[in-house]
Amino acid sequence: MQKNQFQSVTADIRLAELIAALSLATDLGMGQPLEYAQYVCVLSVRLGEALGLNESELREVYYLALLRHIGCNADTYRMANLFGDELALRTHVASVDSGRASQMIGLVIRSIQQANEGKSALNLARMIAQGLLTGPHLMKEEYTGFCEVAQRLARRLGFGEDITLALEQVFERWDGQGVPGKLKGDGIALSMRIVTLSQDVITFHRLEGVEAAVTMARERKGTMYDPQMVDCFCLKASHLLMGLEEEPSWEVVLELEPGMRTHLSDEQFDTACRAIADFADIKSPYTLGHSVGVAELATQAARHCGLPEADGVELMRAGLLHDVGRVGVSAGIWGKPGPLSEREWERVRMHPYYTERVLARPGMLARLGALAALHHERLNGSGYYRGLPASLLSPAARILAAADVYHAMIEPRPHRPALEPAIAAEQLQREVRAGRLDSEAVNGVLAAAGHKVRTSRRELVAGLSEREIEVLRLIARGHTIKQIAQILTLSEKTIDNHIQHIYNKIGVSTRAGATLFAMEHDLLIDMN
Ligand SMILES: [Fe+2]
Repeated sequence: MQKNQFQSVTADIRLAELIAALSLATDLGMGQPLEYAQYVCVLSVRLGEALGLNESELREVYYLALLRHIGCNADTYRMANLFGDELALRTHVASVDSGRASQMIGLVIRSIQQANEGKSALNLARMIAQGLLTGPHLMKEEYTGFCEVAQRLARRLGFGEDITLALEQVFERWDGQGVPGKLKGDGIALSMRIVTLSQDVITFHRLEGVEAAVTMARERKGTMYDPQMVDCFCLKASHLLMGLEEEPSWEVVLELEPGMRTHLSDEQFDTACRAIADFADIKSPYTLGHSVGVAELATQAARHCGLPEADGVELMRAGLLHDVGRVGVSAGIWGKPGPLSEREWERVRMHPYYTERVLARPGMLARLGALAALHHERLNGSGYYRGLPASLLSPAARILAAADVYHAMIEPRPHRPALEPAIAAEQLQREVRAGRLDSEAVNGVLAAAGHKVRTSRRELVAGLSEREIEVLRLIARGHTIKQIAQILTLSEKTIDNHIQHIYNKIGVSTRAGATLFAMEHDLLIDMN
């Protein structure tokens, strides 16, 4: 398939805004409340200031706090195989001391018990034994994979060596007992030492308040954390944590960015969207390459359907970002070979909502998020997460849905192998007949995927699409733009765009000229 041929549309987004939004996705992936990383970012910068860091050091701390968990989707399916719900496990890991064997063993046992409720005592005992035997090795491997993925993604997002080197040290500890355990003491990057302490402080502060955070920091002083840093934090804890419970962290985080405020070019934004697509897809071995595939298919389909150029660009970006919310659902559910339980299905239905929530700000991302969140909606209202009717699904949303279905079909899933493209095409047409997918969108997607699409005689006239012919027929019959928009359940702006395209294609500039063209080419014959 060809790459995006649409011209660029100005991105208009700050790097800090994009990374702050991405940090919401990593909060979900770590089983933490939304805005967790943003609070960690605020505290880290405040602590950095208290320690006397200069502007460029503070900038490193700022971005590292937001990016720290960007590798969170690596190897999660293996964790889920062993422990069940890896997100639940991570929620609890945040509050234990990884250096204390008794705390870690207790956590592993609890997680396996929760994930295997209803199994016989013997089976459970076997699983716990296996978990304790293989768990430490697997966790070590997972932590290393986490860091490698984080480093690669950070590079693709345009970050330099300072950040990427620090991302190798996410699980290192002051006493050298971390993972991979290559570094200790001030051999660990200053920025990472600050962020590690800050994130645990935020967890304890949220759960039990300032005193609990100070006690925890003192207990782990010299083992997990830099002793000097702990002293500095404990001395000024109330001041450093002031307002962190109630302030809207988005505005605070953006205001706090040290140094120059970088805006992304179109090209940088598109590159970042591709990195985010891969971040989302690595959650499951079944979805590798899914988001990029959907984006490219949808973009080409938009061209086949005659959508305005700007819609094609939005579709490319929304396609790349559409499944970022998958991070908020356990890899155990994405990898389950059998039917999902009601509770599991409920969680799956949440993933387009998570996508929309992650991309809720700034306005430029919100627009893409609103489109991306529609990728599981269906024309007959049977989709999710909102169950919207056809009248609220734009042509772009219909194309995205069709592209997502088609691409998912040609990928393997835990309960079936990948379908042959011809079979997938047939199933897509079945979805049209069932009233779930839009006919023109499906034709566009199939044409973009290289299938021969049955075209009517009229579609060949002047390169007009089915939709454009529908609009042309209504223009010829004297309908106003408002009436056409109501009949076709599209916005007036979209109809206006269609009319401009039609006039350009058939070389007229008036309604009368268009009417005569339609008559000359017998386009009114099937008019109802
Ligand atoms: Fe999805």
